[in-house]
Amino acid sequence: MITSRLDPDPPIEGHLLDRLRPALAVEAEQCLGRAEAVAFLARLDLWFADIHGPLAALYGCRRDADALGEQLVRLARAAVGERPVELRDLDRRREIDPHWFQHQRMVGYVAYTDRFAGTLDAITGRLDHLDELGVTYLHLMPVLAPREGENDGGYAVADYRAVDPRLGTMDDLEDLAGALRRRGMSLCIDLVLNHTAREHTWARGWLAGDPEYAGFYLSFPDRTMPDAYEATVVDVFPDRAPGSFTWVPGAGANGAGANGAGAWVWTTFLEYQWDLDYTNPRVFTAMLDTILFLANRGVEIFRMDAVPFMGKRMGTSCTNQPEVHDLAQALHALTKLAAPATVFKAEAIVGPDDLVAYLGGHARYRPECELAYHNQLMVMLWSSLATKDARLAVRSLGRLRPIPEGTSWATYVRCHDDIGWAVSDQDAWAVGYDPGAHRDFLNAFYSGRFPASFARGALFGANPETGDARISGSAAALCGIGGDDPHALDWGIRRLVLLHAVTYAWGGVPLLYMGDELAQGNDVSYLGDPALAGDNRWMHRPYFDEAAAARRYDPATVEGRVFGWMRALGAARRELPALHAAGEGGVLEVDSPHVLAWRRRHPRSGWFVGLVNFAEHTVSIDAHALDGLGELPTVLSSDGPLQARGGRLHLPGLGFVWLAEP
Ligand code: GLC
Ligand code: GLC
Repeated sequence: MITSRLDPDPPIEGHLLDRLRPALAVEAEQCLGRAEAVAFLARLDLWFADIHGPLAALYGCRRDADALGEQLVRLARAAVGERPVELRDLDRRREIDPHWFQHQRMVGYVAYTDRFAGTLDAITGRLDHLDELGVTYLHLMPVLAPREGENDGGYAVADYRAVDPRLGTMDDLEDLAGALRRRGMSLCIDLVLNHTAREHTWARGWLAGDPEYAGFYLSFPDRTMPDAYEATVVDVFPDRAPGSFTWVPGAGANGAGANGAGAWVWTTFLEYQWDLDYTNPRVFTAMLDTILFLANRGVEIFRMDAVPFMGKRMGTSCTNQPEVHDLAQALHALTKLAAPATVFKAEAIVGPDDLVAYLGGHARYRPECELAYHNQLMVMLWSSLATKDARLAVRSLGRLRPIPEGTSWATYVRCHDDIGWAVSDQDAWAVGYDPGAHRDFLNAFYSGRFPASFARGALFGANPETGDARISGSAAALCGIGGDDPHALDWGIRRLVLLHAVTYAWGGVPLLYMGDELAQGNDVSYLGDPALAGDNRWMHRPYFDEAAAARRYDPATVEGRVFGWMRALGAARRELPALHAAGEGGVLEVDSPHVLAWRRRHPRSGWFVGLVNFAEHTVSIDAHALDGLGELPTVLSSDGPLQARGGRLHLPGLGFVWLAEP
């Protein structure tokens, strides 16, 4: 039993695993049978340090930290007992091939169920479309039951064990996961773990003073602590939900639940999204239980939503704190114990210096998430496109720490969120940019206010106090696709293809955002829905355009041109072992400021080189900069084989080239 949160600090006694193992061996064999028990115990030996270490760091000051560890390991064992046979088969396959998600065949697709197909059931009708694009990983945006009315696009979950009834049922989700698996596609869903909707049972119980949920949320009786925290905390939605606390009548202070007086509840995002208090081990246990439940329904990849915000420390930004990594590590190791086929993907949209830690890259490797959004690459692509200059990208990507073996980036051009300009000041100064001025420029450029901008986006979350803002808009719109000028359209398409030519060959899992394969533009229909109108991220969350999709094989149409390229990128990628994410690679320094060049190699492949030119005119680079790799055959490019003349390689404006050793 977990007792008060203020227990004294007795040391953790003995070695828990030595004490636990004999009894667990007997239990496991009884419940799971011999083969499954052997596998479970082998995993326990493998993962125990990654479970116990972080738990001790998080909850070690409690008398019953060992009891907690024991309880969690038993929870994992019980989950193995309930795991369907088909998923246990998958576990076996993945234990033999633990790097499955790093394979060059991986291509992700990201979609809202309702906007893509209507319901979960109807997704099966779209699998051919996905197959054509080579998709092996499908991220369905929030599918779990949200609160009624406004719900931040489903990121305010009222019940983790039910599917949004508008989309279907938990059985439908399970069936879909099976159908995908049989087509070689893995299902990814969001795990919103920083907060729940205020309508969630945990929140209602907490507010009602139910001891079961005592300490599930964070609250304060007056403004003293909130003001002190807000002096340094990041304000995510400064315009729509300023500050990080919400006054809740009837709430008690210090996470106590009810005492009638009312309190300030921690709400990093919107007022109806209440932050969970992970210093309470019961919150950890409840979230682990949720993950194991969903993993047993067939979810293979968990997108760990807003993970940087899970730990709060006075005097900090309350993001990227050490306990966030302990939490992710412990949840990860316990999930591996119960459902080894599962991987975690970090949604840590943070600066370049904080990013690699989410893949376990600390002073010593500590397994954490297998995948993380390559937010830095995304930001650098858009920055380079606006400036027609790759120097900032070369600098920032070139100095990014290498990621641990066995982990990969999820590379992407666009997603459902706004683009925040995570440009490090140090990198900006290094290439001669004033960081603040550069971010202002990017906002002006992509909101179309900058003269000569091709982009058709809009500002998001403008903060009049700090002058900060981010950008909304679909990839096609930000690339300048959408007007009547055929010449401008050609350039727009070249930009959209160029960006994907990087994300598809950077050496991680490329994620294609629904609609981008058809160059879908901004969708302003959200303005007609009062629950959405206040959030312009909906402009880049369109409905799948059936009519546009019907034109996807017609090379005379925009859709046909773009779809053809996306298909070609996916198909070429599949055949390039150098793009296996376990390979090595890096940015190459070349003598043109407009060119981003990178190379990759896997122990089982030859070299791959990618080149993109952000300028609109042809540029050339010294072939020597590529260490002789410039002579490799062109496997895919915007304009035919790479042209070499007089020791220089010529890249057409907004062109891309992939070269690879056969
Ligand atoms: C994530 C989601 C974003 C949401 C936020 C709060 O960052 O991507 O859409 O608003 O979390 O849950
Ligand atoms: C998440 C993301 C952040 C984004 C916000 C709202 O917190 O980390 O980048 O701006 O959600 O979309």
